[in-house]
Amino acid sequence: MDQLLPPEIDEAARSFASALAACGDLNALMRLKGAYVGREGSHAARMMDLLKAAPKEHKRELGAQINAYKQQWEEALKGRQTDLESAKKAQDALAAGWDPTLPPPVPAAGALHPLNRLMDRLVDVFRPLGFHVEEGPEVETEAHNFDGLNIPDDHPAKASSDTFYLAAHPELLLRTHTSPVQVRTLLRVAPTLAERGGIRFLAPGRVYRKDEIDPTHSPMFHQVEGMLVGHGIGMQHLKGTLEYALRTLFGPHTEIRLRPSYFPFVEPGCEVDVSCPLCGASGCRVCKGSGWVEILGAGLIHPNVLSYAGIDPTVWSGWAFGMGVERMAMMLSQTPDLRLFFENDQRFLKAMGGLD
Ligand code: PHE
Repeated sequence: MDQLLPPEIDEAARSFASALAACGDLNALMRLKGAYVGREGSHAARMMDLLKAAPKEHKRELGAQINAYKQQWEEALKGRQTDLESAKKAQDALAAGWDPTLPPPVPAAGALHPLNRLMDRLVDVFRPLGFHVEEGPEVETEAHNFDGLNIPDDHPAKASSDTFYLAAHPELLLRTHTSPVQVRTLLRVAPTLAERGGIRFLAPGRVYRKDEIDPTHSPMFHQVEGMLVGHGIGMQHLKGTLEYALRTLFGPHTEIRLRPSYFPFVEPGCEVDVSCPLCGASGCRVCKGSGWVEILGAGLIHPNVLSYAGIDPTVWSGWAFGMGVERMAMMLSQTPDLRLFFENDQRFLKAMGGLD
């Protein structure tokens, strides 16, 4: 076989492996490639010329030999090129400051939304007082959202200008507050209320109202409802509980004040303010200079609400409150625009760590 190719080609073939190993970089490799398999002047090109000039009876054997060499060279060159390229890549990365000893990046895990975290925190404040969580549907009946709460038919909240009614089911609506969970829960526990010795719960969740979107309004927002039913419950219990809860949330020096207000499902009803947790009640933008921030509506459960659920208001009494979660979150985080909570900008959501 060997005798068909001139000695210098066999010589080149023998020295190929060591020449390849001696290529320390891609430039040297390209030169070697040119010398062995390049279009012109290479060993491969010279072999092709020889093949053309060879006598017919030798062409087949010579062709096979040439092909074997060419294939072997090309494959080896390609393999070496891949190695040199990845070595160069690693070298460049090291030069650019890549540190292979660093641990790999931790994949980003999901996290609770700041409003959910704040609601969890409220639940945590009340849990040690024996409160558990009750839930109700966001699509509610008129009966649970209004009638069971002593809200009369001509109340403005019932108007379709304020409330989202379901077009196909006019008796259904998107609940306008978390108070229908009061009605559902009282109806459910009424038969066993005496055995239980009363009930106390929180009901966090979404509520809906036909409000235009602006920095302080959204047609969907969150409330946390609180309710307690027992014997001989009065305003003093409501005030004491709220004082404890709001001091746990806003700090031990927080003062609260109750102002008379009206909600059909409580009597007496009140609005509750906290001394501004941001300025220590000296007056700032958040409390509009007054030193107080309104935080929730509350009151003693109206006898009609207990009666509707089949609970005797001469035996049982209690209190209820409802607070706006966005309002509290905005105050705690000094966020001026409620829409930020719903736009899901990761930078904003991550910066909301202060609500934990
Ligand atoms: N449901 C009332 C509201 O949405 C708040 C409230 C709840 C007031 C319970 C008193 C008692 O404004």
